[in-house]
Amino acid sequence: MTELADRPVDLSDLNLDPDDFSSNPSTAPCFQEVAASRMSRRTVLRGGMLAAAGFMTTSLFADTPAAYAAPKGKAVPPKGAGLLGFTAIAPSKMDEVVVPPGYTAVPFIPWGTPLQPNGPAFVPGSPDAGVTGGNTAADQEQQVGMHHDGMHYFPIGSGRNASLRGLLVVNHEYTDEGLLHTATPAEPAPGAYTLEMVRKSQAAHGVSVVEVREDQHGSWKVVPSKSNRRITANTPMTFSGPAADSPLLDTGAPANGSNPVGTINNCSHGYTPWGTYLACEENFNGYFGGVPTKKIGDEDVLDYTSFGDDAELLDRYGVGGNRYSWSPTDKRFALAPGDVEEVNRFGWVVEIDPFTASSTPVKRTALGRIKHEGAFVHVTKGGRVVVYMGDDQRNDYAYKFVSSGNWKSLRARGLSPLDEGTLYVARFNNDGSGTWLPLIHGEGGLTPEAGFADQAEVLVKTRLAADVLEATPMDRPEWTTVDQTTGMVYLTLTNNTSSSKEINAANPRKPNPWGHIIRWQETGNDHTATSFRWDLFLLAGQGRDSETNDGSTILAEDAFGSPDGLWADPDGRVWIQTDGSQPGKVNDQMLAADPRTLDSNGVPEVRRFLTGVRGAEVTGVITTPDQRTMFVNLQHPGDGGLNTWPQEKGVLVPRSSTVVIVKNDGGVIGT
Ligand code: FEO
Ligand code: CA
Ligand code: CA
Repeated sequence: MTELADRPVDLSDLNLDPDDFSSNPSTAPCFQEVAASRMSRRTVLRGGMLAAAGFMTTSLFADTPAAYAAPKGKAVPPKGAGLLGFTAIAPSKMDEVVVPPGYTAVPFIPWGTPLQPNGPAFVPGSPDAGVTGGNTAADQEQQVGMHHDGMHYFPIGSGRNASLRGLLVVNHEYTDEGLLHTATPAEPAPGAYTLEMVRKSQAAHGVSVVEVREDQHGSWKVVPSKSNRRITANTPMTFSGPAADSPLLDTGAPANGSNPVGTINNCSHGYTPWGTYLACEENFNGYFGGVPTKKIGDEDVLDYTSFGDDAELLDRYGVGGNRYSWSPTDKRFALAPGDVEEVNRFGWVVEIDPFTASSTPVKRTALGRIKHEGAFVHVTKGGRVVVYMGDDQRNDYAYKFVSSGNWKSLRARGLSPLDEGTLYVARFNNDGSGTWLPLIHGEGGLTPEAGFADQAEVLVKTRLAADVLEATPMDRPEWTTVDQTTGMVYLTLTNNTSSSKEINAANPRKPNPWGHIIRWQETGNDHTATSFRWDLFLLAGQGRDSETNDGSTILAEDAFGSPDGLWADPDGRVWIQTDGSQPGKVNDQMLAADPRTLDSNGVPEVRRFLTGVRGAEVTGVITTPDQRTMFVNLQHPGDGGLNTWPQEKGVLVPRSSTVVIVKNDGGVIGT
């Protein structure tokens, strides 16, 4: 604890990931804006909505004019008064998963688990990289993918049975090419990749559908099932929605010119009331090669000059870099001037029917093309679906999609509720109000003269359209969730380490190495509304009662940074998962916050529930319907280091894995 409290912010500690730079040129900081936003942060959510929900009404910044004037040592209400019934655990630097007393956590379906009992067993390494007996691309296609991320549990059956058997659907965000091919942290040299190795990497991407069953309390097994399925970077898909027939998405390839192939970098996710899964495509840009570089100072930067009219769009999404060495052998990932349509086919939300293994996944273009972190679907009282989404890049935006009608009515007419509707981008005003700006062709300057010939072009170029509408640049929008007990929407903003970022009331720290969580309530608690009121739920960091003055509003004993995964469970507990730098360089972790017990500073009670292993992010969280089993993912344990978690049957490489958590007395998780 001393270590946590005493440690100043050190930017050199921060692991930068590919989202952690800006490709938004329209966000130069301005001193007047900084001053104005600091002075206007006495916001928000005053009285009304929280009182209506029967909660305390203290506003986070009601009387806190200075940017970081967090009082030290203020009394807080006794713990245990609200939704959180477990004993908070300490931060950890260990190589084991720790959960509170009275709970048990067990690894489940690590990378390489065969989908069927007669499937290929996990053996690390690739034959083409010199590892005799290692798994091939064909093996990997029949095994759980690498680097587990967003995840949902689809129950099978009803009543008690629904919580004993279901489909676990898991995103696989990216691959560690060293572990995958050489079974060590060492990546093959760029020239050493054979097409077989590229295919194995592509097979380790995508989504796994795995039928699972609880044998005895806390012990789950993979069930042999015709539902068990892998979706990879090579799975045939289709487009739907307003941009489906756009020439911008047509490569002209004889076999699949107008139909996309595969999904990559599936980070967070969503799930619909009609029983489908939404896999979101995040950092698709780095898979592509063919973009030259130029020197700026000592640095090699991507140079789009030769791409002519396509340069602006490629630049806005930061396309290029060939991070996975795919493009030399798989030309689909090699761009050339005049030949860029393949990259436009990524950056979408992909709808998957997990119950029908023969179904073709559909890329839903109405939800826009961004670096989709997740897609949380909320159903309104009138049966419309509202999809909340973040675009994870420094200074990028938050979005929502609103279906044009009741989802059951639309589906009865043979229409998808994810094709028919309006996409909006968020503006967070400094006075605590907010506006949803529609991305509709012909409105708000989205005209042919501005580069948008039709609605398809607005959607393919979502980021450029949102720039025109002057949306609010955010500190890397990650997961969204809706608390079903209050209607409040939550969004994690993981961090923004740039010292030249734009500062605004919704993103008040510069730099913001620890991140924060914003929340809002739609006007009238109507999720189709085009206005809202927002406040800052919490600012992460070393703690307001630490000596560090880092602007955090949480207590030092609850210190965390880089909030990413987020889920409000059916009771309203807000589960927070971290990915990246933590105060005191402790392992990534999962905490729970209780919005019903705001303290005298207007800050919710927070308790640490789980600590991961060294190098791993904690991501993906869902329970069975009875809330008595929780599934959480640990991604990239070791992260290139020597950790070998979860050390199953003598396997000495680290493997991303799900963790099954139960309360030993069979109670609801979190109580
Ligand atoms: Fe894949 Fe933005 O985390
Ligand atoms: Ca994430
Ligand atoms: Ca992240």
